[in-house]
Amino acid sequence: MMRITIERQPLEQVEAGALIVLVFEGRKETRFGAGDLTDAGEVAGKSLELTLLHRPPGVAAARVLLAGAGKPEKFDPAELRKAAGAAVRHLKSKSVKKIALALDPEHADGEYAAAAVEGAILGEFEPDRYKTDDDKKSVEAFAVVAPGGAAELDDAVARGRIVAEAQNFTRGLVNEPPNRLTPSKVAEAAQKMASEYQLECEVLEREQMEKLGMGALLGVAQGSAEPPALIVIRYRPAQTESKAHLGLVGKGVTFDTGGISIKPAEGMEKMKYDMAGGAAMMGAMRAIAQLKPAIPVTAFIPCVENMPGSRAQRPGDIVTAMSGKTIEVINTDAEGRLIVADALTYARQQGCTHLVDAATLTGAIVVALGHLNMGLFANDEAMRDRVLKAAKAEGERVWPMPLEDDYKEYLKSAFADIANVGGRWGGAATAAIFLKEFAGDTPWVHLDIAGTAWLDESKPFLAKGPSGVPVRTLVRLATEWKDR
Ligand code: BES
Ligand code: ZN
Ligand code: ZN
Repeated sequence: MMRITIERQPLEQVEAGALIVLVFEGRKETRFGAGDLTDAGEVAGKSLELTLLHRPPGVAAARVLLAGAGKPEKFDPAELRKAAGAAVRHLKSKSVKKIALALDPEHADGEYAAAAVEGAILGEFEPDRYKTDDDKKSVEAFAVVAPGGAAELDDAVARGRIVAEAQNFTRGLVNEPPNRLTPSKVAEAAQKMASEYQLECEVLEREQMEKLGMGALLGVAQGSAEPPALIVIRYRPAQTESKAHLGLVGKGVTFDTGGISIKPAEGMEKMKYDMAGGAAMMGAMRAIAQLKPAIPVTAFIPCVENMPGSRAQRPGDIVTAMSGKTIEVINTDAEGRLIVADALTYARQQGCTHLVDAATLTGAIVVALGHLNMGLFANDEAMRDRVLKAAKAEGERVWPMPLEDDYKEYLKSAFADIANVGGRWGGAATAAIFLKEFAGDTPWVHLDIAGTAWLDESKPFLAKGPSGVPVRTLVRLATEWKDR
């Protein structure tokens, strides 16, 4: 794990393998002997541009890495997070172990310092746990250089570290292969995490779910030899005036074959990330436990493996959800909404007053928004605005999608209260409107993260594979909660 510090001395004095210095478009960098490169146009300050200078004059660091930060008027913590991530990844590939990043005095506040630390920790992560080469590179230390920086920076840097490590925890879980991370193993991981951070954790097993009438969840689980688990993780503030109780529901399908409505072989190996919503809730709880917001928060993670075993549910089956609604299962591959439906009902029964769910729910959201934005659906404007605001502050991209009652017509069933799929069109919206039936009148936001939870290609600032969204949004939602 990286050692994180703040250095308050002048940047010239900082000892490091490399010192990252931000360069802005239109502001010519002439320090560190970079004048010639600037004049020649090699250093232009463009976003994510990187130029490594060896033995730069006038500084104690062995190298200076000029990191493009784009136009000064567009610069914000999200841009810094990316610049820091790209710089750290570049230096890591060059085996640099001690890294410092200089903040300009105008950016030496808590939000920026936290973003720099987050960028570094997130950039450093590699999904290489199962590669056995023994010369894996790692960055040992990262320092934020803020000459004369205020005391608030200490808390901010601590916060950035907590949040980024939580996001990496989520990424690590999502990256686990489906033979090693079954529903029971997710439950074990949740219990271990909860005991490390003094959270309460309870795992409901099949028998308890049967007693609660969770027919929708159990229907999905019955095709697998692996038993299902409903993980409940509770955070309770030491004291609070808050009347709200936030519920976080995350889809935890440890592998989605599609069931009897089986998926094509091509790309099926990626369906290990179908538990990314659940893993995000675990990561968020890990950070929340350390940041101790004033609002009680409970995570609900329904975990199943969607398999076409001999006991698997069939298209045409009718199941009864915990809410009492009957569901005609037209397509067993639309399993996420079935397990999330029962988890939403249970969350409401447990007293949650506000709900957010995250789920890799539909291929249709990838068609609609690509890999850039999560889709957001909400039954309540105030709740939608809270989540949008938190996401914006964290640089996690979210796009509002429609949730109008007319979409419910697409889910008509001839034989049950509702069908689990609509027709060919508007697949992300019909999935959301299905869930809305189970959120009832509780203010609720649904995040469809099918397009954003997994990166098919690495980015300069983030490795390929699990992205860890929307951990930061959820943490900020909880830590900045005000009842109003
Ligand atoms: N887990 C998938 C959704 C998904 C697709 C996640 C692509 C990540 C990438 C989900 O369970 C699913 O299979 N949904 C179906 C629904 C359809 C049967 C109505 C889909 O999107 O095709
Ligand atoms: Zn599916
Ligand atoms: Zn799925």
